[in-house]
Amino acid sequence: MSFLDFLASEFSKLQKAILVESFQDDLDSSVTFEVVDRKTPFLPLFDVRRLEFQRGSSYSYSAIFLNKHLRLQPIYFAVQRLTESFFPKFSLLESALVLGCAGCSIPRFLALSSKDCKITGVEYSETMIKIAKKYFIDDPLYQNFLLLHDDAFSYIHKATEQFQLIYVDLFLAENNYPQITSAEFVNDIGSLMTGESIAIFNSLCLSKEDCVKFASRYVSSFTATYVFDHQFHYYVVFVKTSSSSKLNAFEKRAMSYVRLDERFIAP
Ligand SMILES: C[S@@+](CC[C@H](N)C(=O)[O-])C[C@H]1O[C@@H](n2cnc3c(N)ncnc32)[C@H](O)[C@@H]1O
Repeated sequence: MSFLDFLASEFSKLQKAILVESFQDDLDSSVTFEVVDRKTPFLPLFDVRRLEFQRGSSYSYSAIFLNKHLRLQPIYFAVQRLTESFFPKFSLLESALVLGCAGCSIPRFLALSSKDCKITGVEYSETMIKIAKKYFIDDPLYQNFLLLHDDAFSYIHKATEQFQLIYVDLFLAENNYPQITSAEFVNDIGSLMTGESIAIFNSLCLSKEDCVKFASRYVSSFTATYVFDHQFHYYVVFVKTSSSSKLNAFEKRAMSYVRLDERFIAP
């Protein structure tokens, strides 16, 4: 954890929550989404905007620092660090695809990291798109961000463009879709990856054993597949590269942020 991350987490304990607006879901009327600002007394640097999903309990779909000088966002720590570990020179990252966007924390991290990276986001909920446009991406910072209203499964099946980074963050309410581990989905993801690329799956609801099976099952379609773990939250990662030194450097950098649970190298 960097000193700034440490300060942000300490100050978050003092934050006051202010409800900005709540929205009824267009697909499921038992669900409410809330945009909530968390303000730190006397220290606006760490003010956070969150998009929360409420059904009995509250789940944070997205969270961003409102201050644009903070590049790393307060959520999806492992995804941001894995991306940086594969692309230490952000200027080389030219194209990224985010499946499941909500309040667009990862697009914000990417836009703040590389002004030239072309970012495509796919989101199927009209409510999410409305909230994102009103409270999260209404800023010139997002000039290279295209937010598409589509179903991610059909989008990846028909898309022809390729990407250097793909982040799969698809949730059906608070659960992963079972289809994300299917051969059809993984083949579609593989066909959208360039020769030097990384795909990161947010596997929040899968057990470590299921993640290991998932990573091992598809290793022959990639250069290497991994299971990383950040505070018992698992990420399955697929990498394509022609450079073994790049692969080693990626692993070394990644392991300074997240735990490497399993690694499979294609035969
Ligand atoms: C955890 S949130 C995504 C957070 C986002 N990646 C970020 O960077 O802040 C999951 C999102 O996936 C969206 N989603 C679920 N199923 C989808 C589908 N089939 N196609 C596109 N989006 C979907 C949900 O509406 C929700 O907004």
